[in-house]
Amino acid sequence: MFKNMDIAKAMELHLGEIFSELPKMPKFVKNVRRAPTRHFSLSQQDTELALKNALRYVPDKWHTKLAPEFLDELLTTGRIYGYRFRPPGQITAEAIDQYKGNCIEGKAFQLMIDNNVDFDVALYPYELVTYGETGQVCQNWMQFRLIKKYLETLTCDQTLVVESGHPLGLFMSSPEAPRAIITNALMVGCFDDQENWHRAMALGVANYGQMTAGGWMYIGPQGIIHGTYSTILNAGRAKLGIPADKNLSGYLFVSSGLGGMSGAQGRAAEIAGGVAIISEVDYSRIQTRLDQGWISKVTEDAQEAFELAKACQEQKESIAVAFYGNIVDLLEFAVKNNIAIDLLSDQTSCHAPYEGGYCPQGISFEERTALLKSGHAGFKEMVDASLRRHYEMIKILAERGTYFFDYGNSFLKAVYDAGVREICKNGKDPLDGFTFQSYVEDIMGPLLFDYGYGPFRWVCLSGKEEDLLKTDRAAMECIDPDRRFQDRDNYVWIKDAAKNKLVVGSKARIFYQDATGRMKIALKFNEMVRSEEIGPVMLGRDHHDTGGTDSPFRETANIKDGSNIMADMATQCFAGNAARGMSLVALHNGGGVGIGKAINGGFGLVLDGSRRVDEVIKRAIPWDVMGGVARRAWARNENSIETSMKYNELRRGTDHITLPFIADDKMVARLVSDAFEHMKK
Ligand SMILES: NC(=O)c1ccc[n+]([C@@H]2O[C@H](COP(=O)([O-])OP(=O)(O)OC[C@H]3O[C@@H](n4cnc5c(N)ncnc54)[C@H](O)[C@@H]3O)[C@@H](O)[C@H]2O)c1
Repeated sequence: MFKNMDIAKAMELHLGEIFSELPKMPKFVKNVRRAPTRHFSLSQQDTELALKNALRYVPDKWHTKLAPEFLDELLTTGRIYGYRFRPPGQITAEAIDQYKGNCIEGKAFQLMIDNNVDFDVALYPYELVTYGETGQVCQNWMQFRLIKKYLETLTCDQTLVVESGHPLGLFMSSPEAPRAIITNALMVGCFDDQENWHRAMALGVANYGQMTAGGWMYIGPQGIIHGTYSTILNAGRAKLGIPADKNLSGYLFVSSGLGGMSGAQGRAAEIAGGVAIISEVDYSRIQTRLDQGWISKVTEDAQEAFELAKACQEQKESIAVAFYGNIVDLLEFAVKNNIAIDLLSDQTSCHAPYEGGYCPQGISFEERTALLKSGHAGFKEMVDASLRRHYEMIKILAERGTYFFDYGNSFLKAVYDAGVREICKNGKDPLDGFTFQSYVEDIMGPLLFDYGYGPFRWVCLSGKEEDLLKTDRAAMECIDPDRRFQDRDNYVWIKDAAKNKLVVGSKARIFYQDATGRMKIALKFNEMVRSEEIGPVMLGRDHHDTGGTDSPFRETANIKDGSNIMADMATQCFAGNAARGMSLVALHNGGGVGIGKAINGGFGLVLDGSRRVDEVIKRAIPWDVMGGVARRAWARNENSIETSMKYNELRRGTDHITLPFIADDKMVARLVSDAFEHMKK
């Protein structure tokens, strides 16, 4: 066996180099939200393994001091976070020139990571959880420190490899290659489930990255506000008969969750002109949204909430009301009092209902937190009972005319897992989908993703407000609002973005565009960087998109050729983006819906103003989108076929999409029916 002394000598970069002495345990700032205890369930042998795994990051001279500390963290929080290595105090995204580095990408990524753990941005900053209850930047602060250090030394001939938060190291590549390649929680098929992931997380070998947490592209709830705005606005158009040039004025939207992503719901409904009541059990999250002005009223009284809403509906005024209480209680009140709800959804963290994502009816948020720590088995039964009751209320409201949609949080799947078989279309399993639709199946898929419309986000790395305003104006100039209603919605969105004060954390913006729109805007921004009109910009997206995500209960819910259980598209998207020179590529398991239920990827592209980056934009951005449109077209989605046909014409000589010939339904049905009749004989 090698001696630790030799191992230390063999590395130029390790925690012993970064710290001359063991850093002091930082003081925890009061009122910063802390992650609940993740149920500890490791065996004695696995506990030893987890300790040895964590100690790999620190020189042996500190092992006797750190081993008991790490063990205590594991036993009391369910994870080893290595709090001692967290930089003390607030961490915020600085202007890019404040970061050390040998290449612009290395500096840009540091800025993006810092934003993901900012007290004002992250859900549980001390536990590196950016959003979605469990979505982490990396597993622990030792990894965080090493990643930051690697990014300081990274050159444009190297690639940093990050596997589930662990920086495997720097490897020689080329300026055309990505500067960082990230994967998170990619588990081998037969182990790809919640139980094995829970063990792997506790052992310190898996990281649940959601998408923009572990892919370092989170831009605060603004990222989701726009998607939420689009979803409820288009739900109104498709289901309530609202004309394309009108908004949600006079209509009521009810949902739950004011957390990381769900926190966008009230504000999005307001921007869309509607009235929202959002239920939330954790007052600290309501307070955050109140402080931001994303919620205007709070009440614990369901009657008061609905009265406030009704008054605003009648006056055609928009308002976002927080109901401090459980969503099931709120819906029971609506059912009992025959209150008309136009649009209904849910955004509790149902991708992880038993990990604390769903607070059962009948107990407070604080009691739920205590139960998570002590009585996990009983807690699961409470969650299941609550989900069943929740479903009953939704069913009654839907029968009375409410349009309910699953918001991509695995709510319908959670209800099914709680024992409700009738929620499945085939009455037994989710293979043919659920009786209620997911918002992608019904709204976002056919109206947006099939055309290639999806999230286009950017961060002005200078940190200057004026750069953001300039990019807003430039993006508007690139959009023709009269092309389609999707373009008009996005034009209006960008026009009002600064007025709506959506920025939390880094100077970022988001809106939806299709493949050519995204490419055009990216080229324009890069030109502005080149002419020094603005500082460098980091482009990216979330996973809520056309091509980067295979997620049968969400992004790919409107894929009906049976391939919704395949993850080829997301994997190809990731590999293709790497091959075409994106600055950062990421591939994750579970983003948005939970482990084993999705494979999703993302990218980051640093616009440095160079001609090289112009070429990357032209190659990579259309691929990132059109790989998804092409797959949707092959699944016979009509709008995708139309988009792909136009693309084949537009990019003749460079790109070519295989299109499906459409079989005659009646001919196939008759033939198969005859064959089955024959087989019965
Ligand atoms: N629709 C989308 O585009 C989209 C995007 C990202 C995430 N998601 C999914 O939405 C879910 C929420 O994401 P998030 O980042 O907001 O998570 P989060 O955990 O930060 O927020 C969920 C909130 O729901 C509250 N809650 C839980 N049970 C409740 C109950 N019974 N009644 C009222 N409130 C309750 C929690 O206190 C929490 O604040 C996740 O499953 C996530 O994967 C959806």
